[in-house]
Amino acid sequence: MKRFSFVGWLLTSLAVASAAQAAPPASPGQLIFQKNCQRCHGKDGRLGRNGAHDLTKSNLNAFGRTYLVTNGMGKMPAFGKTLSPAQVEQVVAYSLTLR
Ligand code: HEC
Repeated sequence: MKRFSFVGWLLTSLAVASAAQAAPPASPGQLIFQKNCQRCHGKDGRLGRNGAHDLTKSNLNAFGRTYLVTNGMGKMPAFGKTLSPAQVEQVVAYSLTLR
């Protein structure tokens, strides 16, 4: 009986661990997006506030987006001073998932 409950415990722990993996918390890129981009681009990238472009329709690739986010353009602020290059990379990768 003792052995059975140990197996039960093991299975429960594994189930909890894999459930945690199946629903990961927001990715770093998503958090950066929520903090820095959402007020103009919106949660799903479509908001277009302050003349922002719909990110789901953007044809810019990762290279172009990295340049734009780092240096800004028009009313789009530059994030090169606020975000590290690694953070820019993460938020750009996240923006590419918005479709
Ligand atoms: C103050 C409002 C504002 C914020 C905050 C903002 N943007 Fe923008 N974004 C704009 C505007 C305005 C444009 C259009 C720029 C232009 O072409 O003149 C734009 C354009 C873009 C484009 C190009 C879309 C295309 O193909 O035309 C990308 C990609 C983008 N933003 C990503 C981001 C990301 C990522 C963040 C957060 C790190 C961010 N933006 C934060 C206003 C904003």
